[in-house]
Amino acid sequence: MTLEELHQKNHELCTCSLKETATQPVFGNGNEKAEIVFIGEAPGKDEDKTGVPFVGRAGQFLNEMLSMIQMKREDVYITNTVKYRPPNNRDPLPEEKISCLPWLVEELECIKPKIIILLGRHSLNTFFPGESISQVHGKLLKKKVHFVVGEKKISMPNEYYLPLYHPAAAMYNGALRETLIEDFKKIPIILKQI
Ligand code: URA
Repeated sequence: MTLEELHQKNHELCTCSLKETATQPVFGNGNEKAEIVFIGEAPGKDEDKTGVPFVGRAGQFLNEMLSMIQMKREDVYITNTVKYRPPNNRDPLPEEKISCLPWLVEELECIKPKIIILLGRHSLNTFFPGESISQVHGKLLKKKVHFVVGEKKISMPNEYYLPLYHPAAAMYNGALRETLIEDFKKIPIILKQI
């Protein structure tokens, strides 16, 4: 199954209530053979309008940080924990994240990245429940994560994760912005080490 087919299938099967209020699904996007996958929280207004993840202000900041490490969007793959915009950009609810989880895991299984960059606490807590972004941002985490999806046990293809502050949370906060940029610059160094 191609990634496009995988997205279409999951969009049809997904019973997430966010689907009712969103304009359209926002599928993951980028290089299907990427070594690096970024996982954000949820689509916002611009993403809901275009159907593409991280195209708004947070996305522009993400693009800027990618160019700081000599990378382009085409080099990486970018997706979200939930594929539909929550009404008024509220946080996705736990049941909404659970409902979209099989989709996310199948998507990652297809790409088989070397490392996953977890943008913000929602993304972090999907793989590391109970961890706090302020404690673990910029630290390489190694863990074999397994999910039970329906009757199927799915093991994550990668072992390495790098949690970072979410660009939307950090871009207008001087100190957090600097921290995020410094953490982001570790990506190529870490990639060489693993
Ligand atoms: N914030 C996210 O977490 N994801 C997007 O796609 C856009 C903004």
